Amino acid sequence: MRKFWIDTDTASDDAVAILMALRWPDVDVVGISTVSGNVPVEMCAVNARYTVELCGKDTPVYLGAAKPLLREASYAYFFHGPDGMGGMNYPAPRRPLAEGHAVQALIDAVRAHPGEITLVTLGPLTNVALALALAPDLAQKIPVCYVMGGAAATLGNVTPAAEFNIWVDPEAAKMVFHSGLRLVMVGWELCRGEANLSEADMAEVRGFGTVLADFSLDCNRQAIETNRTWLKDPALPLPDPVTMAVALDPSVSVRQSSHYVDVEILSEVTRGMTVVDERGVLNRAANVEVCWEIDIPKWKETLYRTLR
Ligand code: BDR
Ligand code: CA
Repeated sequence: MRKFWIDTDTASDDAVAILMALRWPDVDVVGISTVSGNVPVEMCAVNARYTVELCGKDTPVYLGAAKPLLREASYAYFFHGPDGMGGMNYPAPRRPLAEGHAVQALIDAVRAHPGEITLVTLGPLTNVALALALAPDLAQKIPVCYVMGGAAATLGNVTPAAEFNIWVDPEAAKMVFHSGLRLVMVGWELCRGEANLSEADMAEVRGFGTVLADFSLDCNRQAIETNRTWLKDPALPLPDPVTMAVALDPSVSVRQSSHYVDVEILSEVTRGMTVVDERGVLNRAANVEVCWEIDIPKWKETLYRTLR
């Protein structure tokens, strides 16, 4: 079994990504750390625990950072709903939070299993930056970290230049990107257009008739509606599940190359922009494997496998 740790600001698309990992046959999710992002961290932890229980698992869920390192918290209720789960108001989870802080729990887990735990980040990188500051040895003890964040081109979903997860805590992202941790970046531009679930795709998922298939669409109903009204696109973007698909089956990423990547923290115009030195003009050592293209039918089948 492959060991995974998921760091997440659990709202609707995070929940789907979590269930994918929990349902994947050769993956054991050893822990879930929550972080302030889409909604306050306490709400993220409720949503993560609900998702774990729905999957019939007892994966420990830890409470993590309540604020970005320097910035004020910025939430995304407009996209994920007042509860982060499309306003579904799911019942409170029965199992309590796991004891201890998420950052220490991540450090302890990685040190207990050096070289064995794949990290998947689905939210702002606050917890991971704090973990690496407290325990820099983690950079060598985590074999790979898949990051849902940023974009390879100048493209964003919260500003024209920045993707939400990096924008929320750009200083944390900068620390992580320069930590020596092996990173695979799944940028936001891979998670739109044809990669979105179209209305026909969503009808297919409904047709599975399972609790998890319904859950994956219901908890995203605000995201579907917002995408329809805001971007005039009647489709469901699922950035965290796309990233999880790449982590579960790296062959979902069909074009990937290593580059020096930095994060903009000084400008308000381009705050949180991930700047990829694609042509190597800076002549600096590569620090990120940038994913440029995914196999879209394969990503969707990876998702569907876990919902049927
Ligand atoms: C990312 O931002 C959040 O709203 C989503 O959960 C995803 O992690 C996409 O930019
Ligand atoms: Ca997320």
